[in-house]
Amino acid sequence: MRVATVLGIESSCDETAAAVVRGDAGAGRGEILSNVVFDQMDLHAAYGGVVPEIAARAHAEKLDVAVAQALEEAEVSLRAVDAIAVTVGPGLIGGLVAGIACAQGLSLGSGVPLVAVNHLEGHALTPRLTDGLAYPYLMLLVSGGHCLFLLVRGPGQHERIGTTIDDAPGEAFDKVAKMLDLGIPGGPRVEAVAKDGDPKRFALPRPLMDRPGCDVSFSGLKTAVRMVRDDLVTKGGMSDRDIADLCAGFQAATRDVLVGKSRRAMAQFRAVFPDAGQAGFAIAGGVAANGILRGGLETLAQDEGFDPVLPPLKLCTDNGAMIAWAGLERHAAGLTGDLVPKPRFPVASNPMSGVWTGKRGAKV
Ligand code: KG4
Ligand code: ZN
Repeated sequence: MRVATVLGIESSCDETAAAVVRGDAGAGRGEILSNVVFDQMDLHAAYGGVVPEIAARAHAEKLDVAVAQALEEAEVSLRAVDAIAVTVGPGLIGGLVAGIACAQGLSLGSGVPLVAVNHLEGHALTPRLTDGLAYPYLMLLVSGGHCLFLLVRGPGQHERIGTTIDDAPGEAFDKVAKMLDLGIPGGPRVEAVAKDGDPKRFALPRPLMDRPGCDVSFSGLKTAVRMVRDDLVTKGGMSDRDIADLCAGFQAATRDVLVGKSRRAMAQFRAVFPDAGQAGFAIAGGVAANGILRGGLETLAQDEGFDPVLPPLKLCTDNGAMIAWAGLERHAAGLTGDLVPKPRFPVASNPMSGVWTGKRGAKV
């Protein structure tokens, strides 16, 4: 095993990001030498969500700036890195094309080899980068486009044991924020408003808890929130207290569903790896930044004999360091991948039992 330095580039949604990470794939745990993230929130705010064409143009304008800044902050020259890792999917096609073109240009000019990275694998391997978590571990990936329980065995070796059958949790947070006029980014706005709310005031459903397995659903919960809102509006309007209580109720329901299904996923993990001992339970993706959810999952992991691994907030949302680290592990394993943009790109090797789609591609 040897220490490698990798430049990572991420542009699959609305963050233009580049980072330099150094580490030994065999040992796990890396050093983040730089982690530059330009968000595009201001550009999309007026539209209430990410506009793909605007995102693609902004990526094309900012990628080279992000890369230059990442190399400068890391005090590393392009020729000194061992590989350039770039997100090839899943995500918005325009952003993926911009990221791949940037990486190819850098590679042509420097001779540094390229590594194609699945964005979801970037999230899934983050606990290795931050905590050196040993394989195998259980991962709950919760973001704006995805909700996945994965058994993580190694780079390119992920088994899906649960997913959403409709909305992703971040998507539900974003839609609830929109229906309550809280603006974007939805998740953090809902969380902030919910702080003063009473989570028990409105009776909201915990979908699919009555069914076996680890699949989740958020569309019915979202509809229930809409019905409460409509009812309140019909009866004279919503006060700040109403909005806070509704946000708190929605957030608690989301936590209960994810905690309940995580308990089942832990039982499945134990059945597959009976000798794993004190294994890791890691969470990642933007929704993993939610404090109430983190608290619920951390307590559950401790109760069930798992090591909870909760990456720092800025490594939960999209960033270049996670792509650099996944690239570093793939490069060490000789898994270069295909430099072709893939708006839909399953991270797990087992086939889907159904075809579910969402605003950012298949939730797989
Ligand atoms: O992983 P991510 O940065 O982007 C992808 O979807 O790949 O996740 C973004 C999602 C958004 O839906 C956002 O509303 C949600 O994560 N999110 C949160 C919080 N912070 C971000 N949801 C709930 N609570 C938060 N604090
Ligand atoms: Zn993401």
